[in-house]
Amino acid sequence: MGDDRFIAWKDTYSVGISKIDEQHQELINLTQLLYQACLNGTETGRFYFKKVMHDLVNYVTFHFSAEEKLMEKIGFPGLPEHKKEHERFVKKVLEEVKNFESGRAIVPNTFVRYLREWILTHIAKTDQQYGSYATKGKPKKVLEDLVI
Ligand SMILES: [Fe+2]
Repeated sequence: MGDDRFIAWKDTYSVGISKIDEQHQELINLTQLLYQACLNGTETGRFYFKKVMHDLVNYVTFHFSAEEKLMEKIGFPGLPEHKKEHERFVKKVLEEVKNFESGRAIVPNTFVRYLREWILTHIAKTDQQYGSYATKGKPKKVLEDLVI
C-alpha cells in the first residue's frame, strides 16, 4: 500500500474481530476504487463510477446487516443508536445514487470525500464501541463464529 492512497486501512481501526476487520477493509477498497473512477472524467469513468457505486451499496447493505446481527447476538445495548447511524448513511448514499442516475449533477469528488469521512469516523469510533463490548465478554473464536 503506497501513501498515495485516497483512503487506507490502519491497524488502529481494528475492532478485534477479524471477519469484521476484513469487511471494513473491503469497504475501504471500494471507496478507493470509487475515488479512482472519479479521477477519470471520461464516459468510461462515469460508467465505472456507476458500477462501483452499486457494488458499494450492495456491500454496505451486507456489512451493516452483518454488524447488526452480531450486535444483536452479543446483546450490545447500543444497537438501536448504531442502527440509526447506519440507516442515515444508507439514506444519504441512496439519494446520491438516485441523483447520479437521473443525470443530475452530483459532484463525485464531494461524494467520495463524504464517504471517506463517514466510513473512517464510523469505523474508528462507533464500531469500536461494540468491538470492545464484544471482546470483553466473549473469547475471540466464539466471536468470529458469530459473524456471518
Ligand atoms: Fe457500524
